[in-house]
Amino acid sequence: MKATMKFYLALCLLLAASLITGEVKAQTLKEDPDLDKKVEKFLEEHAGQWYNMNVPTRDGKLLYDLIIQGNYKSALEIGTSTGHSGIYIAWALSKTGGKLITIDINESSHNTALQNFKEAGLSDYIDARLVDAHTLVKELEGPFDFVFSDADKNWYKNYFMDIDPKLIVGGCYTTHNIRDGNSGGRRSGGGSQEYLEYIKSLDNYESTLNSAGGGVLISYKRAE
Ligand SMILES: C[S@@+](CC[C@H](N)C(=O)[O-])C[C@H]1O[C@@H](n2cnc3c(N)ncnc32)[C@H](O)[C@@H]1O
Repeated sequence: MKATMKFYLALCLLLAASLITGEVKAQTLKEDPDLDKKVEKFLEEHAGQWYNMNVPTRDGKLLYDLIIQGNYKSALEIGTSTGHSGIYIAWALSKTGGKLITIDINESSHNTALQNFKEAGLSDYIDARLVDAHTLVKELEGPFDFVFSDADKNWYKNYFMDIDPKLIVGGCYTTHNIRDGNSGGRRSGGGSQEYLEYIKSLDNYESTLNSAGGGVLISYKRAE
């Protein structure tokens, strides 16, 4: 076989392998420069004003990037608070053509989030529910391809076990405020450590910890 043919064959095999593992996805992102300007203006004006246990900006950007890279469309967030992470998630979904369901039990936070989503121009991409996630997460049908778990830490494992059957293979499950004691730092507390050990023990999930911000565990579902 000629060298050039061998090269193209190797390239095709690599591409096929990448598609199977979900690392490369064909995607056409929707362009909406007016919406981008509106979201950017909102985020600029509210920078440094997220006092309700909201994610730091770098974690918001990380969630945005994960959704764009994976071309995810059906997202679930547990723990809306006043909507900082929700804005990054929904902004990415506005480009992939997706939608976010986000849940919070606190009425005041929920109402502020609704206001923020409207001001950022993202309400059309968000279905915000005011309800106890312990109940709703069990009831939601799915399927989901992206999840951000950021509510009560002692329930992290329960949320995961309820959602796992509804997360598609290739989907991404992210969890906030995770610290890995094995890397020399403090261990996660309040139920997060039990959750971390559980998900790391699963053969069909591949997890990495991004510790640049508040600690985001990124877990890809590789098989049922
Ligand atoms: C860390 S904050 C979420 C921050 C948000 N993701 C952000 O970055 O803007 C956690 C939220 O989870 C909510 N929460 C706690 N327990 C809950 C439950 N059982 N059901 C729904 N929401 C809950 C709290 O009201 C709080 O707003």
